[in-house]
Amino acid sequence: MTSISPRKILVTSALPYANGAIHIGHLVEYIQTDIWVRFQKLRGHTCHYVCADDTHGTPIMLRAEKEGITPEALIERVHGEHSRDFAGFHVGFDNYYSTNSEENRELACNIYRQLRSNGKIASRTINQLYDPVKSMFLPDRFVKGECPKCAAKDQYGDNCEVCGATYSPTELKNPYSAVSGATPEMRESEHYFFKLGECEDFLKGWTNTPGKLQAEAANKMQEWFESGLSDWDISRDAPYFGFEIPDAPGKYFYVWLDAPVGYMASHKNLCDKLGLDFDEYWKKDSTTELYHFIGKDILYFHALFWPAMLEYAGYRTPTAINTHGFLTVDGAKMSKSRGTFITAESYLNHLNPEWLRYYFAAKLSNTFEDIDLNLEDFTARVNSDLIGKYINIASRAAGFISKRFNGVLCEETYADLEWAAVGRILLISIGNKSDAIAELYEKRSYSQAIREIMALADQVNQFVDNFKPWELAKQEGKDAELHYVCTVLINAFMRLTVYLKPVLPKLAKDVESFLNFGEQELTWEYAQRLLVAPHSINPYQHLMTRIDQKNIEAMVEENKQTLAPVEAPAAATEKAATPAFEIAPIAETCSIDDFMKVDLRIARIANAQHVEGAEKLLQLTLDIGNETRNVFAGIKSAYKPDDLIGKHTVMVANLAPRKMKFGMSEGMVLAAGGDGGLYILEPHDGAKPGMRVK
Ligand code: MSP
Ligand code: ZN
Repeated sequence: MTSISPRKILVTSALPYANGAIHIGHLVEYIQTDIWVRFQKLRGHTCHYVCADDTHGTPIMLRAEKEGITPEALIERVHGEHSRDFAGFHVGFDNYYSTNSEENRELACNIYRQLRSNGKIASRTINQLYDPVKSMFLPDRFVKGECPKCAAKDQYGDNCEVCGATYSPTELKNPYSAVSGATPEMRESEHYFFKLGECEDFLKGWTNTPGKLQAEAANKMQEWFESGLSDWDISRDAPYFGFEIPDAPGKYFYVWLDAPVGYMASHKNLCDKLGLDFDEYWKKDSTTELYHFIGKDILYFHALFWPAMLEYAGYRTPTAINTHGFLTVDGAKMSKSRGTFITAESYLNHLNPEWLRYYFAAKLSNTFEDIDLNLEDFTARVNSDLIGKYINIASRAAGFISKRFNGVLCEETYADLEWAAVGRILLISIGNKSDAIAELYEKRSYSQAIREIMALADQVNQFVDNFKPWELAKQEGKDAELHYVCTVLINAFMRLTVYLKPVLPKLAKDVESFLNFGEQELTWEYAQRLLVAPHSINPYQHLMTRIDQKNIEAMVEENKQTLAPVEAPAAATEKAATPAFEIAPIAETCSIDDFMKVDLRIARIANAQHVEGAEKLLQLTLDIGNETRNVFAGIKSAYKPDDLIGKHTVMVANLAPRKMKFGMSEGMVLAAGGDGGLYILEPHDGAKPGMRVK
């Protein structure tokens, strides 16, 4: 075995935004990173894995406002939820912190001051759209309007989802604020910029240093260099949830300025807790290693801004940026309506986290390639590989060791048995893969590592089939053989467990107890060790079950349902009369933009009459100020025409006209109803025909 000198490694995953739940897409990254970190620790290196919630910015501020709580309360709650979800998937951070921390404020401000004294900060006045109702400047994503190229309605301020054009929000036609619906105004404001353009030479050199970036990332960088590096706007005006910029009252760091600094802050917090030397890791000539694991969507921030910030603030730069692709489910983007937008929480309600860890490992490479979670393949793969090939080795051998040999393994000298060479060769060939498998983990070629490990498991199963312990057990005088075969199997199982331990940490723990390790843990060296008499093992208890398709279906179902919680307010009024109707579940959340698409108007019912031959319909003539509409409404069971005439109601005025048997229907009146009756809506006095309702 090659000897390894211990390294000092600091590893990060991207900091998840503190305004949403962790989902299985995120988990690709956290599981990928966690496997790598666990592998390094297993090899005896000093490795710290830090992360944090990314807590600043406009969306978080608005989300808190919508929930009627402070941003601090929101991010504290989400911190709890995220920590719980990560722990549920055995993601073993050494520290999970927050960007809204004093350490981060101090580091971000210091980095800014350094950049400023190195001449890398500029300020200038820019024009930006301002929401006069909310009294705030609008980020691009919060301005909507018609695409300047194709005139598609309701497009975001930065790009059109219909024709793909990119533009600035000021180019939108008929723009409106997605926050309040108000028409934005152009206002001036002073902004601060990081002069990225001046960092070009440094960045080119950095990018071309071998090992820093994957080939795909280096190519992307090339494209970015070719299109020119523009200065980066790092300030936002109040109101903004974030850190105020030193010497610039009312100006805040843009969230992406302090987010990567959050890596340092989390590490600083860890160092303070453990008494470690923070500077040793971050000083310019540090010999420690620093790796950032990220998704391909945030490469620009990590491969351009971040190294440049570190460099010109006097810190070391990352050893490498490790970028992964995106997760799809059943070949498509995760979808809320299909139930494939699977939250970490809902997964854990139904399935074993290590199944997903295994599946992701079996699919992950060290490229940008997207990976697909195919739910059928997931079941098949876990059941056939993990259970069928690997777990079964232990379950087949352990029973005999316990029942026939009191749990004690055989002695090594059994290897003298004539046929025993086969077992010895099997164990040696497993042990000999140690370096190759380690190398695959090291370079994040997990799918290849898993392939190697499963090929070894195939060899072990071949050995089982050749020597058939269940038949040896039935024959007279075959005890020694049986003992030996089962001991080989237990050792093979132990060695495979070492190789799988980065992926399956909980299972490996259970195997350690099963193998009677006491305080001892399986380390990488155990891939070449032997467990023999007088060592005894514990009786086999099931280590992992097969996936049942039903649980997957239940999980997908739950993810469809989380959008329509069926929470009738019945519980609180248990003693009160049961409502005479069923309260229907709340429909899928819609955005204010979705809602604004529906043009609701006050209408005066100018006329109402029966329709010949129609069982349910009344024909209404609705006056909406500057025109009248003919509408067929299914309200005959509840209203006499005469009772309606002259009353006001609310109608959907922009519903596509529909040709019905009795004529054209040009809209719809709003009515409450269901099992409990039918009641059309009537506005308070004073509402006039044609007024918009919103
Ligand atoms: N807050 C920023 C990162 C700041 S790092 C200083 C952010 N947060 S995020 O919550 O949107 O994403 C966190 C990580 O999860 C990112 O690396 C992102 O690429 C990754 N993923 C989010 N959805 C994903 C998939 N569907 N598939 C794979 N990775 C995904 O970005
Ligand atoms: Zn367009």
